[in-house]
Amino acid sequence: MILHSKPTIGEDDIEAVNAALKSRFIAQGKLVQEFEKRLSQYVGTRYAAAVNSGTSALHLVLLAFGIKKGDEVIIPSLTCTALLNAISYVGAKTVIADVDKHTMNISLDTIKDNLSRKTKAVIVPYMFGNITDIQRICKFCQTNKIKVIEDCAQSLGAYYKGKRLGSFGDAAVFSFYATKLITTGEGGMILTNHRPTWNAVIDLRDYDKKSSKRTRFNYKMTDVQAAMGICQLKKLPLFLEKRKKIAESYSSQIENSMLIEMNNSGLKAIVSCRSCSSRNSFYLTSSSKTKVFDGRISEINKHHLNEYFNESIYYRYLIKVRDAGATIHQLKASGISAARCVFKPLKHLKNANWAFKHMVSIPIYPSLKKNEVKAVVKAVNNLKRKNFKMKSIKQR
Ligand SMILES: Cc1ncc(COP(=O)(O)O)c(C=O)c1O
Repeated sequence: MILHSKPTIGEDDIEAVNAALKSRFIAQGKLVQEFEKRLSQYVGTRYAAAVNSGTSALHLVLLAFGIKKGDEVIIPSLTCTALLNAISYVGAKTVIADVDKHTMNISLDTIKDNLSRKTKAVIVPYMFGNITDIQRICKFCQTNKIKVIEDCAQSLGAYYKGKRLGSFGDAAVFSFYATKLITTGEGGMILTNHRPTWNAVIDLRDYDKKSSKRTRFNYKMTDVQAAMGICQLKKLPLFLEKRKKIAESYSSQIENSMLIEMNNSGLKAIVSCRSCSSRNSFYLTSSSKTKVFDGRISEINKHHLNEYFNESIYYRYLIKVRDAGATIHQLKASGISAARCVFKPLKHLKNANWAFKHMVSIPIYPSLKKNEVKAVVKAVNNLKRKNFKMKSIKQR
């Protein structure tokens, strides 16, 4: 069976964990600090706090922002239930918004549809590695005194307008669960540029040696996990490149009727840019409208390059089919483990329901071998048109 997702663990990870164990410093210590420093440098924020999961990260950020009973927090329907849980831990009300049909993410429009005077925060998860127009969301929320929490559990490494996701909002959370882009088994991180938020989070994640009796938690990461995190982070560019190569194979070999536009890096890949150092391609967009710069690269100045450098990453590769449930069953019979895009929508809303019914996630991870990619392509292309393919059904 070709698994749907799998962690990529090398000898170097094992050696790093062994070294941490041998040092006998196995709880939160210097390696956690080192991991925090490296991740904040990579994403481009001032402060970082490692914790034991993405859910804990969300919980602490909500507490640090003073979100409580009587407040409302907006999240999209197409996401992980961890968001619901974190909001319920602080006693606030969750308001569930639909997703944008192009990005499958929450957008400023879907946020606006759900605003009330009680809205105190919005959590923006970049699902499947796809970007959304976070700059517009942040601008609007800042004006309306609403906190923006970027949820980068599925999007570590993606860019929006020349900046890494996770550096736009009031705070960002990450998850290092086993099948995430990098892993520490379980684990999470909070990044922020706001010192008081960081101070609050640091205070809340540990209960020991505190003078006040305020409720605190034991949400700490261990140095054993951090040793693995540091090692995995070094390999992230390679992991992302491998995911991209697999996605390119899928996009060029899977039958057109099953391809979803957002797989071409969310808001569309346009220009190949050989002259821009390590970036071998970049993506030019203006919100959902694509700008095609097909002139010579010298015609695009540096400002354009940054302003328009959007790059989603391939956490998931989704295909569109007539019936997601039946397709998953059929692929399983061919030895391919596929999955729904989410466990289920958090609320029945139009675009989220469409995605749940018609989108299937196929295997994509750095250790997926060439012959496995070939087998996935073959099995997908062999799906019978009558039951599975969407030839005559418009995307949405
Ligand atoms: C978008 C998103 N947010 C939050 C989480 C929660 O992370 P964790 O499992 O580390 O608690 C996940 C995990 O799957 C996720 O996909």
